Amino acid sequence: MAELDGKVALVTGAAGAIGREIVRALRASGARVALVDMDAAGLKRLTADLGPGDDLAEFVVDLADDAAATALPARVRDHFGSLDALVNNAGTRQVKPMVDIDPQEWRHTLDIDLTAPFLLSRAAIPIMAAQGRGKIVNIASMAGLAAFRDRAAYSCAKSALIMLTKVTAVEHGADGIRANAIAPGVVETAMTKEFFESEDLTASIVANSPMRTWAQPSDIADPVVYLAGPRSDFINGVVIPVDGGWTAGYVGAELSPKPKAEKRLEE
Ligand SMILES: NC(=O)c1ccc[n+]([C@@H]2O[C@H](COP(=O)([O-])OP(=O)(O)OC[C@H]3O[C@@H](n4cnc5c(N)ncnc54)[C@H](O)[C@@H]3O)[C@@H](O)[C@H]2O)c1
Repeated sequence: MAELDGKVALVTGAAGAIGREIVRALRASGARVALVDMDAAGLKRLTADLGPGDDLAEFVVDLADDAAATALPARVRDHFGSLDALVNNAGTRQVKPMVDIDPQEWRHTLDIDLTAPFLLSRAAIPIMAAQGRGKIVNIASMAGLAAFRDRAAYSCAKSALIMLTKVTAVEHGADGIRANAIAPGVVETAMTKEFFESEDLTASIVANSPMRTWAQPSDIADPVVYLAGPRSDFINGVVIPVDGGWTAGYVGAELSPKPKAEKRLEE
């Protein structure tokens, strides 16, 4: 029997690069999956790519709409008969200096990256509590663990999403609900396209990553399956960096001569 056989997972941002791989991995583990995104064409492409079936259902929703976000968990429960996992993956960010962010942009980033996960969790929790079980997986970011320039709204939203994860764990552990977060490092997706179009930015990623490389979307998907499934039942309220060790230290900061192995690599 597969790990998530018969379970129902709701995945936001399903049409995005990481979302698609999360959906693929959850389905491969036996889950039925509600695909949520505002990109209707992207959801259609995903369903066609995965192969349509009764175990997939598309929900086109703009998560900036509070009422639509709030209604979603019950719609998914009504469609599939239960709601076992909520994966808050949809996200948005702009890259600009803090002093140039206007209040509307600030609020929009917080709406999608923080308020929507709050509204979805708030609506999913009573459904999960009535079932006596449920998993919430919030996709945060290493930018929610450490500050990076030009991402004020995004970093603040992701940092608060990590705290929302802990609050959910503390308030609802006794209801059978587990809430955990994943903090990806640099992942090659549409969101990070500009990193790979610039030699300087690519070099900076390599210099700051202990693994000297970046992640692919599938690297994020397997930890999500683990946190959504039964093997992680006693893990609650943690944030797992999936960043190749980036936030474990300051590998780009030289305080001693380069290790011999790296010197050899450069020669
Ligand atoms: N790519 C990275 O390097 C990276 C690093 C750390 C964290 N993350 C996080 O991972 C998650 C997925 O990122 P990605 O790289 O796959 O991005 P992506 O841009 O490829 O996908 C994001 C998806 O969210 C959807 N979305 C955005 N706003 C929405 C809204 N208002 N309503 C409904 N759907 C909406 C988009 O349509 C898109 O399909 C995000 O939360 C992001 O912050 C990404």
